[in-house]
Amino acid sequence: MKRIKSGIEGIDEITNGFPIGRSMLITGDAGSGKTIFGLQFARSSCAQGYKTVYITTEEDASDLYTQGDTFNWDLKSYTENDLLSFNELAGVRARVTEAEMSIDIGAMKGNFSKFINELPDDTQTVIIDNIGSYTAKLTPYEFRDRFDLLIYDLKKRNITALVILDSATSKEFNEIALFSVYGALRLMKRENPYTGRRERVMDIVKMRSTKTPTQFMSYEIDDTGLKLI
Ligand SMILES: Nc1ncnc2c1ncn2[C@@H]1O[C@H](COP(=O)(O)OP(=O)(O)O)[C@@H](O)[C@H]1O
Ligand SMILES: [Mg+2]
Repeated sequence: MKRIKSGIEGIDEITNGFPIGRSMLITGDAGSGKTIFGLQFARSSCAQGYKTVYITTEEDASDLYTQGDTFNWDLKSYTENDLLSFNELAGVRARVTEAEMSIDIGAMKGNFSKFINELPDDTQTVIIDNIGSYTAKLTPYEFRDRFDLLIYDLKKRNITALVILDSATSKEFNEIALFSVYGALRLMKRENPYTGRRERVMDIVKMRSTKTPTQFMSYEIDDTGLKLI
């Protein structure tokens, strides 16, 4: 199976990259680095020449360019070369009132497919950050149904996807989401029992047809981005 480099130092050595036309799930707490992971993957995808769309439900595009700038990534040049575009759902959320929002979310039920149908035909890579923004009001049954359909739609179009789901969305949803994706990574902050210091660790929860370590892997975020240490 052809793979695309994740752009995360350490992950590519272990996994050989993410399979083309399949979906990977990233879960984790606030501040664990999910968005940085997503941007770093987007950048790597562009560097390999794939048309990439970053769907953002929380930050607007300018904040994401700014985050990229802190790592000297120059994401703008990929946008100028027509490789990277940001699809902002954040602004939409901020503008509507609470009442409108519940209607909006009601209308969004079963409509993750809408994300995919609206993508340009030549889209090859998609990052969805974060699907949890749209699933809070679903029942677990609805979530499973919609999420499976999303993954199916992406696969049908041979899109390589990174779907981010925050941990604030129920643990149950996190478990359900695991089933239909090709692979899943969980980002965590925890206290090292020996040093008493907080550290960032990553768990490769699953990855089909790939030999992956069972231990947690330490990672850090420094001025070049996210990498395993
Ligand atoms: N330039 C940087 N250098 C080092 N760490 C950074 C940098 N930019 C952000 N971070 C760290 O990354 C965290 C945010 O990561 P982010 O991907 O936005 O988290 P999430 O999307 O999981 O909420 C910040 O809280 C900070 O600790
Ligand atoms: Mg984020």
